Amino acid sequence: MVKICCIGAGYVGGPTMAVIALNCPSIEVAVVDISVSRISAWNGDQLPIYEPGLDEVVKQCRGKNLFFSTDVEKHVSEADIIFVSVNTPTKTRGLGAGKAADLTYWESAARMIADVSKSNKIVVEKSTVPVKTAEAIERILMHNSKGIKYQILSNPEFLAEGTAIQDLFNPDRVLIGGRETPEGLKAIQALKDVYAHWVPEDRIITTNLWSAELSKLAANAFLAQRISSVNAMSALCEATGADVSQVSHAVGKDSRIGPKFLNASVGFGGSCFQKDILNLVYICECNGLPEVANYWKQVIKVNDYQKNRFVNRVVSSMFNTVAGKKIAILGFAFKKDTGDTRETPAIDVCKGLLGDKARLSIYDPQVTEDQIQRDLTMNKFDWDHPIHLQPMSPTSVKQVSVAWDAYAATKDAHAVCILTEWDEFKTLDYQRIFDNMQKPAFVFDGRNVMNVEMLRDIGFIVYSIGKPLDPWLKEHACCA
Ligand code: NAI
Repeated sequence: MVKICCIGAGYVGGPTMAVIALNCPSIEVAVVDISVSRISAWNGDQLPIYEPGLDEVVKQCRGKNLFFSTDVEKHVSEADIIFVSVNTPTKTRGLGAGKAADLTYWESAARMIADVSKSNKIVVEKSTVPVKTAEAIERILMHNSKGIKYQILSNPEFLAEGTAIQDLFNPDRVLIGGRETPEGLKAIQALKDVYAHWVPEDRIITTNLWSAELSKLAANAFLAQRISSVNAMSALCEATGADVSQVSHAVGKDSRIGPKFLNASVGFGGSCFQKDILNLVYICECNGLPEVANYWKQVIKVNDYQKNRFVNRVVSSMFNTVAGKKIAILGFAFKKDTGDTRETPAIDVCKGLLGDKARLSIYDPQVTEDQIQRDLTMNKFDWDHPIHLQPMSPTSVKQVSVAWDAYAATKDAHAVCILTEWDEFKTLDYQRIFDNMQKPAFVFDGRNVMNVEMLRDIGFIVYSIGKPLDPWLKEHACCA
């Protein structure tokens, strides 16, 4: 029986391995992690991450051919194929701080593999890593090999949180990069055989190692660039009276462009886009390509601009001050159908409003109070380390309360900011919300999910990103 071990039981390692286990009953899959709490959650009723469909997949194979364990060394030493899906945060200190990927966790995983292995292994990069990481990993393994042979493959993950299970069952493509030697090709084939249990052959792409590593960074940069492009347009739409949804629709009908990923919003978030672009920028700079680096940097700058613009719009609409005013924040996760808050635009928007002395009442169906407080007090990039290693601020933000539902969050509020496109926000009783709010009552829709006419009929002053402005907002638009 082929044995697979995955180091890192996070958003990628957990769902990816669960889907492999379900589709490959003849393969034994162990997912290991240094975080005891994460592994006990994977073994319990409340899984550590929320992802539609994940519970069912895990329940079907856990204890049969899918195991979660903290016994990292045992499972690594027994495995034929080892996936490494550990954190690759942005460095906060030293060379490349603020841009380069921190490979501390990767390196320690590689050294541990070298220490405990007693048979030949295929080591698969599942984490997103800088181009040429495989070379560094190869060196660590070879120099400590004790005669054992390793083949390194790059198999970046393209799943999107919120639709991870669907994406894993039916991927647009699976990418496998490896050495173009007989041993390398054999290793590529072994991994191909795993995916071939459920992925059609023409969707499994094989490349050299460096192309696979770079393709992941490139794909995320292209996706984020589309969002920054439409967000840049949204500012121009507001200035000219054009409607960004109409512009996106018209642009997306061009088959060369396509309709997906063209929704204007308060900005992109998630653990990957910013980190991967910063990483790409750093690699370009290191390779003497400052013009290319600056091109991609702009994608992040526009994203920051969009979050600031939103905060400025809120403050300027509300008589240029939100000091002491209660503002309800609906949605904190970086997108719907996930509880993940890593790099969510809600963090910057909330910090911006707190900077203007607002009082915030936050509701998100999947994010806990503890997580929200951690996010609002943590330093930039600290969120991307294993949870038990994250530095914690001893204080919480007093001006922030977390509500059980949208009605409690909005009671007596002056304004509502919709920061995540959760479906339930579309069907709330907005008349009831309006009746319980201070007047004038504002809605700032950062995701363009609301029926603006309906809200205006109730009496709200409404701002929707990139849409023709409410007459009130035009009058108060001086600073936005
Ligand atoms: P995560 O933070 O959810 O999971 C990483 C896990 O690795 C943590 O549970 C941590 O405790 C564990 N870990 C760290 N060092 C370890 C070690 N030496 N031994 C055992 N366990 C260790 O991170 P996530 O989101 O799963 O991301 C992992 C990688 O996949 C990152 O490189 C990320 O950029 C990439 N990625 C993430 C995607 C996403 O949507 N979250 C999508 C595609 C790629």
